[in-house]
Amino acid sequence: MPRVLITAGPTREYLDDVRYLSNASSGRMGYAIAQAGLAAGWEVVLVTGPVEIPVPAGCECHRVVTTSDMREACVRLFPSCDGVIAAAAVCDYKPVQRITGKMSKTGGPITIEMIETDDVLAELGTLKSGAQWIVGFALEAQNPRENALQKLRRKNCDWIVLNHPSAIGSEENQVELIAAGGTTVGTWSGTKSRVAEDLVGWLGGQIPAKTAGR
Ligand code: CTP
Repeated sequence: MPRVLITAGPTREYLDDVRYLSNASSGRMGYAIAQAGLAAGWEVVLVTGPVEIPVPAGCECHRVVTTSDMREACVRLFPSCDGVIAAAAVCDYKPVQRITGKMSKTGGPITIEMIETDDVLAELGTLKSGAQWIVGFALEAQNPRENALQKLRRKNCDWIVLNHPSAIGSEENQVELIAAGGTTVGTWSGTKSRVAEDLVGWLGGQIPAKTAGR
C-alpha cells in the first residue's frame, strides 16, 4: 500500500512572540484527504499546521507551525513516501525580522518588511525521484487553468487540484484535477469529504502504475 505524505492547514509567520500572520484555512480539505487515504488502506503521513479539527485516527501526524517547520518536516519525510498531496495553505510571506517579546505601539503607522517564505512544494518537486508522484493544489482567483498549469510545471507536479479561494474555511469544495499535459482528468464537487474520496479513488487507479518498481 502506498505511503503518502499529506500537508494540511495554514502556516503561521510571527511578527513578535505574540502576533502572527496566517490565513483562514481550516485544514478540512487536507484532513479529509488523510481520512479518505486511510480508508483506502494508505499509510498516511500528515504534516499539519495549527488547526482545530481532530487528527484522523491511524495516521502518522507531524505538527508544525511556521512554513520553515513545514519545509523541514516535509523534506525529511518525503524520501520515505511514494507520493505527496500538498493541500496546505502555506503563508507566502514572512516578516524579515521576528521581534523578541512584544512590539509596542508607536503612535503612528508602521511598515513591516516581508520576504517570501520557502516554497515547500517546489522543493519537494526538485527532490522527486524514481516513481514518486506529486499532487499540488492551486488556489486561483484569476485565469485559473492557466495559473494552475504554470504552478504544476514550476513545482514539478504530476497533477494539480484547481480550486477557488472560496474553498478556504468552507465545508464544501469544487475542484478540477489537471494532469501535467494540461488535460482535466476529474471534476468533483460537494463536501470536502466527498471530494477527498473522489480524489483518492482516482489516484488509487493511477498509483499502482506510477509506483511499480519501487
Ligand atoms: N505551497 C507550498 N509552499 C509555499 C506556497 C505554496 O508548498 N510557500 C504549495 C501549496 O500547498 C499548494 C501549492 O503550493 O499545493 C500552490 O499554492 P498556492 O497558494 O495556490 O500558490 P503559490 O505558489 O503560493 O502562488 P500564488 O500565491 O502566487 O498564487
